[in-house]
Amino acid sequence: MATALPDRNLALELVRVTEAAAMGAGRWIGRGDKIAADQAAVDAMRSMLDTVVMDGVVVIGEGEKDEAPMLFNGEEVGGGGGSRVDVAVDPLEGTRLTALGQPNAIAVIAVAERGAMFFPGAAVYMEKIAAGADTVHAIDINATPTENVKAVAKAKGRRATDVRVVVLERDRHDELIGELRQAGARVNLIRDGDVAPAIAAARPGTGVDLLYGVGGTPEGVISAAALKCVGGGMQGKLWPRSDEERRALVEAGYDLDRVLTTDDLVAGDDVFVAATGVTTGALLRGVRYVNDGAITDSIVMRSRSGTVRRIEARHNLSKLTQFTGREY
Ligand code: FBP
Repeated sequence: MATALPDRNLALELVRVTEAAAMGAGRWIGRGDKIAADQAAVDAMRSMLDTVVMDGVVVIGEGEKDEAPMLFNGEEVGGGGGSRVDVAVDPLEGTRLTALGQPNAIAVIAVAERGAMFFPGAAVYMEKIAAGADTVHAIDINATPTENVKAVAKAKGRRATDVRVVVLERDRHDELIGELRQAGARVNLIRDGDVAPAIAAARPGTGVDLLYGVGGTPEGVISAAALKCVGGGMQGKLWPRSDEERRALVEAGYDLDRVLTTDDLVAGDDVFVAATGVTTGALLRGVRYVNDGAITDSIVMRSRSGTVRRIEARHNLSKLTQFTGREY
């Protein structure tokens, strides 16, 4: 048996980064301005990232969709020195949810060894199925939704009517939703934010068994990193929106029939993920403001050890403002 001394757990530092982003966005909950919420999260995340000793390159960053001037793909982040790593960030996963004061918005970051993360290129969307450790062997993205519901029910020793599936509420999912319901599953439609439910599928007591459907490819990579830590898994397939996008992806060397496993999306065995709730959802509580402070709820994980920590932090906002010069 190989032995190794306990070493630094980067995720314990990364949680400060997601806490900062969540508090940045927290001020914009329910204010109807998703751009401002995202910008606040990006600014806060960016300023905290340089405190983390790592030689990071952003592989999954703020895409063209977000038009943010920071945390773009290829940007070097971290305080320098330390491990050479790939970094995936979503300072505000659920910009619209935050603006509308709806559940499941989180701030999240994942770090893995350099070269470990799948680079989605122009592939904006992918089909995904995410599941927990007890059912990951049963799912098959090439099977029908009916077959997947049956297989998951069997693996869990439950009836199909007890399988709870989260799906993004989109027109492209009309058929999927219809078939899942026909198969007996209970479908929980969400407006946005498929990372939190993907992780929730692998956490006990969350009320989520599967995340199913087409969502963002960057979100898929981040979900895979987290699932690698908490013990579940996912399968994905790139999903071009048009023939033109299909051609471009094939020309760029992507195999559109390939089933991307958790390990294809994030390779290596030392992955760190931290996420902090912005609005309360299945996985985390949102930022709560109390007298002169804010309380954040985060989940911190590492794949090699399999340790999953829940961290509740109480932040003294006037002290933070005083010594950072930033408004909290
Ligand atoms: P934003 O946080 O960037 O607004 O995106 C949230 C999200 O709902 C993701 O969770 C999901 O993967 C993706 O957008 C779905 O994309 P679309 O809204 O274009 O269907």
